[in-house]
Amino acid sequence: MFRSHTCGELRLADAGKNVTLAGWVQRTRKMGGMTFVDLRDRYGITQLVFNTEVNAELCERANHLGREFVIQVKGAVSERSSKNNNIPTGEIEIIVSELNILNTALTPPFTIEDNTDGGDDLRMKYRYLDLRRNAVRKNLELRHRMTMEVRRYLDSKGFLEVETPMLIGSTPEGARDFVVPSRMNPGQFYALPQSPQTLKQLLMVSGFDRYFQIVKCFRDEDLRADRQPEFTQIDCEMSFVEQEDIIQMFEGMAKHLFKELRGVELTEPFIRMPWADAMKYYGSDKPDLRFGMKFVELMDVLKGYGFSVFDNAAYIGGICAEGAAHYTRKQLDQLTEFVKRPQIGAKGMVYARVEADGNVKSSVDKFYSQEVLQKMKDAFGAKPGDLILILSGDDVMKTRKQLCELRLEMGNQLGLRDKNKFACLWVVDFPMFEWSEEEGRLMAMHHPFTHPKDEDIPLLDTNPAAVRADAYDMVVNGVEVGGGSIRIHDSQLQAKMFEILGFTPEKAQEQFGFLMNAFKFGAPPHGGLAYGLDRWVSLFAGLDSIRDCIAFPKNNSGRDVMLDAPGFLDQKQLDELNLIVDIKEK
Ligand code: AMO
Repeated sequence: MFRSHTCGELRLADAGKNVTLAGWVQRTRKMGGMTFVDLRDRYGITQLVFNTEVNAELCERANHLGREFVIQVKGAVSERSSKNNNIPTGEIEIIVSELNILNTALTPPFTIEDNTDGGDDLRMKYRYLDLRRNAVRKNLELRHRMTMEVRRYLDSKGFLEVETPMLIGSTPEGARDFVVPSRMNPGQFYALPQSPQTLKQLLMVSGFDRYFQIVKCFRDEDLRADRQPEFTQIDCEMSFVEQEDIIQMFEGMAKHLFKELRGVELTEPFIRMPWADAMKYYGSDKPDLRFGMKFVELMDVLKGYGFSVFDNAAYIGGICAEGAAHYTRKQLDQLTEFVKRPQIGAKGMVYARVEADGNVKSSVDKFYSQEVLQKMKDAFGAKPGDLILILSGDDVMKTRKQLCELRLEMGNQLGLRDKNKFACLWVVDFPMFEWSEEEGRLMAMHHPFTHPKDEDIPLLDTNPAAVRADAYDMVVNGVEVGGGSIRIHDSQLQAKMFEILGFTPEKAQEQFGFLMNAFKFGAPPHGGLAYGLDRWVSLFAGLDSIRDCIAFPKNNSGRDVMLDAPGFLDQKQLDELNLIVDIKEK
C-alpha cells in the first residue's frame, strides 16, 4: 500500500496509529536534535518528526531533503506538544520510522506558498508548480464542484448532455475564427466553434427537446481579464419555450449554484432591466447593481446659462456619490485625469459638493446661480456631504459609457464593489442590430438566429435599427455571465434576417444553407442560453481574472508560455498540409 492516509486527514483521535503517508516536502526545520518536515499533498499538510537521539541516520537523511522532494514515510501518529490551530492536522505529528525518497526535485523557481514570490510570467511558465499552491488549486476544486452541480441540476430537469464537433465550418458573424487546415482536403480549413450555436439548434430540429453541454469555445479576439481565446460555456437549448420559460429555468440554475457553492440563498426574482434603461441609467449593458449612483440627466437643468461646454452638448449627465464631499481638490483632479485617459476619452469633468448648510459649491459656479445648482441637487436627491460628478459630450452613447467608467471607479474608491455581495439581473429587450462603423452595415447584436420581438417584426422592413430582439443576458456584479435568445425557427424569416445583414441569397445559402434547409423539415419553436463557466467560477471565487480558474490559461497575447504555443511547423508538416507560409510584413 502506497499510503494509508492523505496529508490532510489525521486528527488527535488517530493518535497511536501506524500510518504511511506520501507527498511533497513543503519545508524542513532543524531545531536542536529534532528535524521537522511539513509534508504536503492536495488534501493538506502533516508535520513529520525525526529525532537524532532515536535514529541519527534517519534524521540525517531528513536533513538533506530538499523542497518539493517526493517522499513516503511510515510512522506513528502522536499528539503534538505545541499545537498549530491554523491547520486541521495541527494537533498531531508523525514520529517517522521509515523514509523513502520517491523522487528528488530541483529547487522550484518560486515558493509554493499562498503568497508566492513568483511573478505572473514565471508562474505561467511553470504552471504545473503554480497549481500545487492552495490558492490556485482551490479555484479548480470550485470549478469541479460547479460543473458537478450544473450537471446535477440540468439532469434533474431532463436535459441531455450531447457533444458536438470541434472541427466545423467557418461562419462570418461574431468574432474571428481559429482555423485548422485539412490534410485530406487540400486548401480547405475547418474552423473551431465560437459556440455550438447552430448545432444545438439542429439538435432541437432532431427533437432532443432539452440539450446542454459543458463545452470549449474558441474566439480569436482581443483578450481582457474576463476573456480567453478558448473558454468554456455551459451551453443550453430548449424546445417549445418562450423567453419566460428560459429565464425561469436558468434563474433557477443560478440560484441553485449560489446556494450550493456560496451558501447564498437568493429568494427574490432577479430584476429585469430593458437594455435601453441599462444604457440610460448605467451606461452599460452589464450594470453593476451592487451600488446605486444611477445616472441623472441634466440637459433640462444645466443648458442655456452660457457655459458653452454644456450648452453645446448632446448629453449632460451625472452621478451622486453619497458622503463623498470630503474629496480633496487633488482627488478630484485625479478623477478628471481618470476620465480623460485615452481609453475613456472624456474631455473633462465638472463637480459639485453639497455643503453642510445645503448650499452647492461647484467647479462651474461662475455660470450657475445657487438657484440653478439647487435644482440640480434636487434632481439627484442629493444631501449635505454628497459629491456630484458630471460629464457631458456630443455623442450620447459615448458619454454614457464614459460616465459608466466614472461610476465604476467611484464604486471602487468608496469600497462599494464588495466581492462577497452579489447583485444579479437580467438585461432584456436588446436591439436586434447594431451599426458597425468598420463594416458599414447593420450587424446582429446577439447573433443572426435571434428572433425579433413579434410586435417589432413589421419594423424589419421600415426601420430595422429600431427592432428589439427576444434576447437576454444574465449579469452578476457587472459581469455578463450568460446570454441567449429565442431563435428564429422559420426559414423565411431567417432568410429575411440574412438579407438585412447584407448576405446575398447565394451567400446565405452557402454559409447557413444547412440550417435553413433543416428548418424546412419541421423545426420546433426553440431558444436557449449559454453561461460562461470561467466567469461564474471567478465570480464565486472572488478572482480578478478568469485565468486563475483555468488550469492552463493563455496570456494576453494568446500564448501558452508553458507549452510555448503557438509555434512554427516543420516543413514536412507544412508539405503534408499543402501549405506555404508567407508571412506578410505588418
Ligand atoms: P455569447 O457570445 O454571449 O453567446 O457567449 C455566452 C457567454 O460566454 C461567455 N464568454 C466568454 N468567456 C470567456 N472568454 C471569452 N472570450 C468569452 N466570450 C463569451 C460570457 C457570455 O455571456 N451561442 C450564444 C449563446 C446562445 O444564444 O445560446 C453565445 O455564444 O459569459
